[in-house]
Amino acid sequence: MRRGRFSGPASELAQQFSESVSFDWRLFAHDIAGSIAHAAALAEAGILSSEEREKIEGGLREIQQEIESGKFQWDRSREDVHMNIEAALTKRIGAVGAKLHTARSRNDQVALDLRLYVKAEIEEILKRLHAVQIALLNLAEQNADIIMPGYTHLQRAQPIFFAHYLLAQMEAFARDADRLRACLGRTDVLPLGSGALAGSTIVLDRKGIAQQLGFSGVSQNSLDAVSDRDFVCEFLFCLAMIGLHLSRLSEDLIIWSTSEFGFVELSDAFSSGSSLMPQKKNPDAAELTRGKTGRLYGNLLSILTTLKGLPFSYNRDLQEDKEALFDSADTVARSLEIWSAMLPEVKIHRERMETAANDPGLLATDLAEYLVKKGMPFREAHDVIGQLVARAAQMSVALDNISPLQMQELSPLFGDDVTTIFNARSPSNYLVKVSGRGRVNQPPLPNIRFSSLPS
Ligand code: ARG
Repeated sequence: MRRGRFSGPASELAQQFSESVSFDWRLFAHDIAGSIAHAAALAEAGILSSEEREKIEGGLREIQQEIESGKFQWDRSREDVHMNIEAALTKRIGAVGAKLHTARSRNDQVALDLRLYVKAEIEEILKRLHAVQIALLNLAEQNADIIMPGYTHLQRAQPIFFAHYLLAQMEAFARDADRLRACLGRTDVLPLGSGALAGSTIVLDRKGIAQQLGFSGVSQNSLDAVSDRDFVCEFLFCLAMIGLHLSRLSEDLIIWSTSEFGFVELSDAFSSGSSLMPQKKNPDAAELTRGKTGRLYGNLLSILTTLKGLPFSYNRDLQEDKEALFDSADTVARSLEIWSAMLPEVKIHRERMETAANDPGLLATDLAEYLVKKGMPFREAHDVIGQLVARAAQMSVALDNISPLQMQELSPLFGDDVTTIFNARSPSNYLVKVSGRGRVNQPPLPNIRFSSLPS
C-alpha cells in the first residue's frame, strides 16, 4: 500500500497506533464472502478471466480454512483484516491476487463487512431473545395460578398473577425483536461499488453482487455509503434497550430473592457465595447483567460521539466503530444466553408471594369500585375507602376485620356482599382484569391469556 507514494515504512509506533487487525480479524468470513462476490462481478465485467476468478476464489477459501483452524498468521504491520487477507492471497496465488482490489476501496469494503456482520448478529440476537421469551412463557404457564402483589413506587399496590408480571417482561422483549427487525431492514443494503467515495469508472453489476451476498437492496449514493454508520448506531441502541430490559428484570429478581421479600430463589448454579460470610448466596448473574448495561450505553454514546461532526465522506475515525459494536453484541448475546438458562431454574416461593398478595389493603381499589357499582361517584368512593383505611389503621386491624355494619357508618351503600371483595382470587374483583392475551411476535410463541388489556 505504501510502495509507490512513500519513501519508507511507517514508524513502529504509528503502526501500533493505527492497526485494527487485533480486533477486526473477526470480520474475516464476511470479508472473504465479499471478495468472492466482488471477484465474480469483476469476471463478468471482463476484468478477470474465469481462470483468474477461480484462482482467487480458491485462494480465498483456503485462507478462510486456515483462519478457522487457527493456523493463519495475522500480521499487525498490515493494519487490518482486509490488508492481511489480500496480502495472504497474493502470496498464495501470485500476481493475479493483486487484481482483486480493482474498482474497490477499503472504505466500501469495510462498510460491506460491517453490514454483513450486523445482519448476522441481528439474526443471532433474535434467536436468543426468542429463547428468553420462551423461558418466560414456560415459567408463566407452570405458575399460572400464583398471585403476588403488584407494585408501584415499590409499594404494594394491587394483587396480580405472577404470570401477568412475566408476560409484561415478554412484551418488552417482543418490542426489542420488532426493533431489531426494523434495524435489519436498513442494514440490508449493499454499499460495495461506492469505491473510496466516488464509485469507479469500472462499472460492476451491483445488483448481482447484492443478490449473491443476500442483500435486499443497493445503496444509492456513494458518499453516503462509505460515511454511513447509522445502522451501527441503531443496532447499538437496540442492544442498549435489550440491556435495559434485562436490567429491570434482574433488579426485580434480585430484590425478590432477598430475605425481606423471599418470593424467589435463584438456583445455586447461577449464584455465588461470599469469601467471608458463609451463609451468603448472592444473585451474581443477575447483578452482572444489570451492571453490563452500563457498557452498552457507553458503547452507544461512543459511536454517536465519534460520528458527530465527521466531515463527509470516509475518515479514519470510523475505525473506532468496531470495538464498541463487537463488545455490545457479545455482551447482549451472553446475557440473553444466561437468562434463558437461569429462568427455568428459578425457584418460586408460592406461599410468600400469596401471603403478601392476600394483604387486604391491596383490595382498597376494588372496594372503591364496589361502591361505584352501587352508584357512588368514584372520587367520593375513593374518599370513603380512604377513611376506611385510616380507621383500620387507628384500630390496628386489617381492612377485612371491619364489619359491614361498621362500614355502613361511612356509607349506607355497603352491604353484606362487601365481604366477597376480600378474596384476591374472586372473579368479580380480579380475574376480569386478566382477560387479555400475551402479545407475541414472530417467530410464533404459544398463545397464553394473562396480559391486562383486552386483545
Ligand atoms: N481499518 C479501516 C477501518 O476500519 C479500514 C478502512 C481504511 N481505509 C483507509 N482509507 N485508511 O475503517
